[in-house]
Amino acid sequence: MLVTSQALVLPLIKAANDPTITQLGAAVPDHRFFPIRAIQRAQSNAARNHLADAINCSFPPGLPALRRQITRRMTEFGCAILPNEIVITNGCQEALTLALKAPTNPGDIVAIESPTFYGLLQVLESLGLEVLELPTNPRTGISVDALELALTNWDVKACVVVPNFSNPLGFCMPDENKQQLVDKLASHQIPLIEDDVYGDLGFGGKRPSACKGLAGNRNANHDIYYRGSFSKTLSPGLRVGWIVPPRKQHKKIEYMKYVLNLGTPTTSQMIVADLLSNGSYQRQLRQVCQKYSVAVNRMTQAIVRYFPAETKITRPEGGFVIWLELPVHIDSISLARDALKLGISISPGPIFSASQKYQHYIRISCACVWSAEIEQAIVTLARLIDLPNK
Ligand SMILES: Cc1ncc(COP(=O)(O)O)c(C=O)c1O
Repeated sequence: MLVTSQALVLPLIKAANDPTITQLGAAVPDHRFFPIRAIQRAQSNAARNHLADAINCSFPPGLPALRRQITRRMTEFGCAILPNEIVITNGCQEALTLALKAPTNPGDIVAIESPTFYGLLQVLESLGLEVLELPTNPRTGISVDALELALTNWDVKACVVVPNFSNPLGFCMPDENKQQLVDKLASHQIPLIEDDVYGDLGFGGKRPSACKGLAGNRNANHDIYYRGSFSKTLSPGLRVGWIVPPRKQHKKIEYMKYVLNLGTPTTSQMIVADLLSNGSYQRQLRQVCQKYSVAVNRMTQAIVRYFPAETKITRPEGGFVIWLELPVHIDSISLARDALKLGISISPGPIFSASQKYQHYIRISCACVWSAEIEQAIVTLARLIDLPNK
């Protein structure tokens, strides 16, 4: 199936930049969750001590100091890689475009989770790729049995997953399931495109493994494209992410990145490298995971209190979004439009699916600083949901 109708998403994303709107829609945390002072210090340091480099272009694969720091972090959670395997990108979104372009051509089929992050659907749409949406369990992730069936019956060229604190379901795939997924794809020689953008944001303390780490060197010929980003931990505006492609695709990815935009802004890369090396990143993680966890709980409590009793809510183990199943008669696209007119943005379910399923679902971002205004927004949403019953 070809992906269409993702244009619906643009008003939602624009709302994220509008200070008059209560932001429950885009997965963009309030700036108060980010380490503003540490970023300021790192920015001044770059301007004061490294200005000549900072205003120069940093061509792919990106700043060596940043790639060394990312290597160190990835090694800590079981991904033994080298700095020269990394290409720095403008966030995870650009890494996704690169990862999809390398193994596919327009018209090819890609297997994805359902529901899935709408940014993935937009990239698939823009590359003219077809999708196969596979059932995804809100606790254990993509169904490996359904994947087996898909690989047997369709000429699938790649499989994209968000195994750690997925968006929108919030689950963390158990290691056993990750291993099954990796083995299944390896046995069919289908590339795995792993999105680990929320991997550092678990509420439980221990950093979950990545499929890339679990795969290790067991299947040296199996292609894994690992992607990460600092958008949910440090700041989305820095636009710093990265990709670790299979070794044989590294040159191709590096060249495609160069052709796309010559390189990721140098100052942003310097800031992130600085925060990783001076311990600020680790400190930020300890604080922000705790804050996201509190924010998710608080939002969940308000929804339980005000929304209709039949509303079902996910219990994410990390990240900051929740996925709600509303009464079946609710049209979440109309609900999102009506809410926006009243100054509240939410994400309607159908934008998380190529076939526009999830008509009575919504996703709420909880990464807002709790206030009377947020509580009032939940009350207003509850009233809108209740209207068709009146
Ligand atoms: C699962 C997932 N992948 C990628 C992205 C995009 O990340 P970035 O801002 O690093 O491009 C997002 C942002 O919402 C996301 O939720």
